[in-house]
Amino acid sequence: MRCVSFPLIAALQLTLLSITHGAKWTYGGPQGEHHWSKHYPYCGGTFQSPIDIKSELLRFDPTLRPIEVQNYNLSPNEQLTLGNNGHSLQISLPSKMHISSLHRRFTAAQLHFHWGSSSRPAGSEHTVNGKQYAAEMHVVHYNSDKYPNISMAVDKSDGLAVLGVLVEVGEFNPAFDQFLKFINGIKYRDQKVQVPGFNIRTLLPERLDEYYRYDGSLTTPPCYPSVLWTVFRNPVTISQKQFLSIATALYSSYAQDSALMPLHSNYRKPQLPESRVVLVSFKEGRGLHGTLTVTSPLTRKRLIQQLLVGDLADLADEGLYQLLPSGSQKLHAGKRKDHKNWLSENLAKPKQQLLNPSLWKKSQTNRYVGKLGLAEDTMCYVSLEQRVFHQLRQSHAEKRLVQTLRNTVFPELNLKSYLEYDLFWINTGLLIPILVISTLGLVLIVSIVCCLFRQKRSAADQNRGKSAGYNLGERDEYGSRV
Ligand SMILES: *[C@@H]1O[C@H](CO)[C@@H](O)[C@H](O)[C@H]1NC(C)=O
Ligand SMILES: [Zn+2]
Repeated sequence: MRCVSFPLIAALQLTLLSITHGAKWTYGGPQGEHHWSKHYPYCGGTFQSPIDIKSELLRFDPTLRPIEVQNYNLSPNEQLTLGNNGHSLQISLPSKMHISSLHRRFTAAQLHFHWGSSSRPAGSEHTVNGKQYAAEMHVVHYNSDKYPNISMAVDKSDGLAVLGVLVEVGEFNPAFDQFLKFINGIKYRDQKVQVPGFNIRTLLPERLDEYYRYDGSLTTPPCYPSVLWTVFRNPVTISQKQFLSIATALYSSYAQDSALMPLHSNYRKPQLPESRVVLVSFKEGRGLHGTLTVTSPLTRKRLIQQLLVGDLADLADEGLYQLLPSGSQKLHAGKRKDHKNWLSENLAKPKQQLLNPSLWKKSQTNRYVGKLGLAEDTMCYVSLEQRVFHQLRQSHAEKRLVQTLRNTVFPELNLKSYLEYDLFWINTGLLIPILVISTLGLVLIVSIVCCLFRQKRSAADQNRGKSAGYNLGERDEYGSRV
């Protein structure tokens, strides 16, 4: 918790307090989503989910690898708990199931659903260009390399990874019947039944390589912004009958309650994207607004670090301009060089006032050293990002610059994902071998080019020497006489 500011700790404690007290929340009425933030402050905070995945937010990112899941094929001997928690239908998952394709191991904990109603088969949380699907499945995983269990991970900025699957009404889906046939055993809140294990992979779409990726939150209180979201591009289908069985079988009330509340339309409305972009792993399709301008994770890491320690002047010199999408260059019409100079001038001024470099350098060191150190960066990212924006706003008279940074640079970098992604290279010790090999490769290439160049020049000069004499003092660009 070293890098968490005091108000954040206070907010966190408040939140934990309301969990202990179990503040009631619902999807409608006086405890509906607009009132969640009274008891759960993060619900009114930044980086909330779900969002409408709009074309203009999308950035193709060629570094996004296909999602790989392990041990999803469960045997019927392994019993799973199917439950109704009053907000959703949930299936507990064994800890051998995990995602292996992210920078850390993310271990499965549970999956659950959000759905519409019998009269309105539209209940997905994420929408795509405004289109709401009939339902959505969330397979929740936690960062088990770093945290011992999901309760420790749930409020950490790098704690969770959720796979989102959009569900539409269409063909019958045999995989869904593996648990739907037991749904009448969990009609009321807090009821649970054991169901035989089955292949959970069959609940996911066939293609796991096409997805949307962004930094977001739990979509239910306490709404911690702790989720690395993966929403698959392709929906799965369930039959009309299967949809109706989810939408009509369950109640959010206890069995003994006198007034029974049906459990349906349990989705949160789309939240503001704020400064975020949505990375996409696939390129085809209309409306994709360009590629990330800097694709090397190491370059991004370095730029982020400079941003965080407030070394904006250096950053401007070294290529902040590369990160600005082509649209924003219209602001400073002209050559790229002008653009760069504009940034240098405007960014150089606040260098001293900006943040407290020693503080941020220290917190960054902690991130490296504390590989397994727990709780050292609770909500670190959010507080850090807010401070960066706050400081930028204070120290810049030029509001437009802040706006440019906010709207273009930060989302382009997708801070959270890439900070962690790059730690993977450093932690696994691959960085030094890669650097050594790259340097050796570069030296080799330069030597070869140099050699060829010299041969060519000396041949040319021999010819010229014969006809026009020798021009004394002329040296080639390596400083040696030719
Ligand atoms: C999670 O781990 C923490 C720390 O080891 C422990 O105190 C806590 O009881 C665990 N919680 C659960 C639900 O297992
Ligand atoms: Zn969910």
